[in-house]
Amino acid sequence: MQITRRQVVRELIGNNIVPQQDSATAFASSNIALCKYWGKRDVELNLPVTSSLSISMSHLGASSKISIAEDKQDQIFLNTQYMSPNTIFYRRLVAFLDLFRPTQDTVFKIDTKTNIPVGAGLASSACGFAATVKALDKLFDWNLSPQQQSVLARIGSGSACRSIYDGFVLWQAGYKENGMDSYAQRLDYTWDELRVGVLLVDERQKSITSSDAMQATVETCPFYKTWPEIVEHAINNTQHAIDTKDFWLLGATAEANALAMHALMLSTTPSIIYTQAATLDYMHLVWRARAEGLGVFFTQDAGPNLKILFLSKDEPRVRAFFMDMEIVAPFSMVTEVIGCDYV
Ligand code: PMV
Repeated sequence: MQITRRQVVRELIGNNIVPQQDSATAFASSNIALCKYWGKRDVELNLPVTSSLSISMSHLGASSKISIAEDKQDQIFLNTQYMSPNTIFYRRLVAFLDLFRPTQDTVFKIDTKTNIPVGAGLASSACGFAATVKALDKLFDWNLSPQQQSVLARIGSGSACRSIYDGFVLWQAGYKENGMDSYAQRLDYTWDELRVGVLLVDERQKSITSSDAMQATVETCPFYKTWPEIVEHAINNTQHAIDTKDFWLLGATAEANALAMHALMLSTTPSIIYTQAATLDYMHLVWRARAEGLGVFFTQDAGPNLKILFLSKDEPRVRAFFMDMEIVAPFSMVTEVIGCDYV
């Protein structure tokens, strides 16, 4: 029998939903998968078919401020703009908040601020849900462990379970029906020289959500059965690359894994193509830079934008190839966060 989100939430927090303060705020970094999560074995609980491995994006992310409001319905603001109840953003967040209402007529006010484009395949929902879970943990004074927070965040949006942590993060697929063993954990490695560049092609919301796209892939792609083995191999290679600081192995594995995921989507019925002409131009530029000996690789999520991986020593040369680009140093101390409440 299908286990519900509500049952999982109750198992974690019991009936502990009495607010302990007026409001609570938390920040979570966005994360970029080097080995992708693509396909659910349980849609209700966002349980993945495979494990996945990501890197968190330091100061790029979202903050979420939650309070109890005196209103008729939840009030949701995104970057200070009031969100209409008709938007997907509003409906997804409210469905999640429904799991934590002290009484049926409790109304929440949520103020989300993010410094990355929303719904453009830059993991905005991941950091949004992770920040919301961290803020709820403070509001209700649950003192949940990061692992437990990761389970709650996964229920909001699968990849959000990785945004609970900094650095390299592994989300173990798990095998239990209730998903209590499907959470992310930080890998105990740093790689100070690693850099991630964000190449923006199009900041508009994608036409098909990652959830719908992965479900269509699982159901209709004739090659989907090859995916678990592809990801397992990629995770092993990535862990070895991190362990030995083999940047070319890390980059080559991430790039191949992203292309494999998009190949699955291409062969889904109807075909799902997030790639745009400008995305392809950037891919060719990456390959040209590499042919000239520069260590630079790309990865692509459910959107047309690319994230590129390189090392700090190559930053001037990479900048010369890709002019307008925000660069993140995932392992540097965060000293300034623009556009979010960093807490
Ligand atoms: O968590 P979702 O439903 O937004 O799916 C994320 C899917 C990818 O970003 C394409 C891959 C991943 O592992 O983050």
